[in-house]
Amino acid sequence: MPDSRLVVTIDGPAGAGKTTLARRVAAALGVAYLDTGAMFRVAALRLGPDAPSWPGPAIGEALAGLSFSLRGAGSDTELLACGESAGDEIRTEAVGYLASTLATLPRVRAFLRQAQKDLGQRGSLVAEGRDMGTVVFPDASHKFFLDASPEVRAARRTAQLAAMGKPADPDEILADIRRRDEQDRNRAEAPLRPAPDAVIIDTSALDVDGVFAAIMDHVGQGRRAPA
Ligand code: DC
Repeated sequence: MPDSRLVVTIDGPAGAGKTTLARRVAAALGVAYLDTGAMFRVAALRLGPDAPSWPGPAIGEALAGLSFSLRGAGSDTELLACGESAGDEIRTEAVGYLASTLATLPRVRAFLRQAQKDLGQRGSLVAEGRDMGTVVFPDASHKFFLDASPEVRAARRTAQLAAMGKPADPDEILADIRRRDEQDRNRAEAPLRPAPDAVIIDTSALDVDGVFAAIMDHVGQGRRAPA
């Protein structure tokens, strides 16, 4: 980075463990945490299910009033949309899939990319998403790409939902994950892929502590390296 900000990017597919790790790394470093998937989800909720068939200008108009900010730091960082906390209603599979569909539209990506870059200007942060290391923060201090098999990711998601008292059919969750992977990896703009300089971590056989230790080890090495 051209200044002293510390920017750590964590990209990867749904269910790879990005959110848990990004929060923990942000807490350990004492910096803000940015969940860019939540921004796509907020946009999806605002635009609604018919938006993918709207003409570009209508999408632009609907997005125009949407603003984002961050409050706090570490694992308590809150993403605010138009000054209000982004609520739990963005966390459904349906909103996730609509977010993924809207994320294929260049107009939506351009709007959120600018909002993400603006939030990055605010100071050091850990940013998680699909294109943080490739597109939004190409000069990040440290880049990570977390991956795991679709089966492992679906099992984790199913367990998470059960813990939240929302039991779900594991086969349906696996199908949802495959459908979203397909769309996120194959879109023309900013497809999900590791940046050439990202550290790739397969989390299939690692627990959260193991992945956290691996990330912090890299971040620590980078900090000790001569400028
Ligand atoms: O991380 P998530 O599952 O909450 O993200 C929801 C969708 O948003 C994801 O399937 C694709 C899109 N997304 C994106 O295209 N780029 C990002 N940086 C973050 C999310």
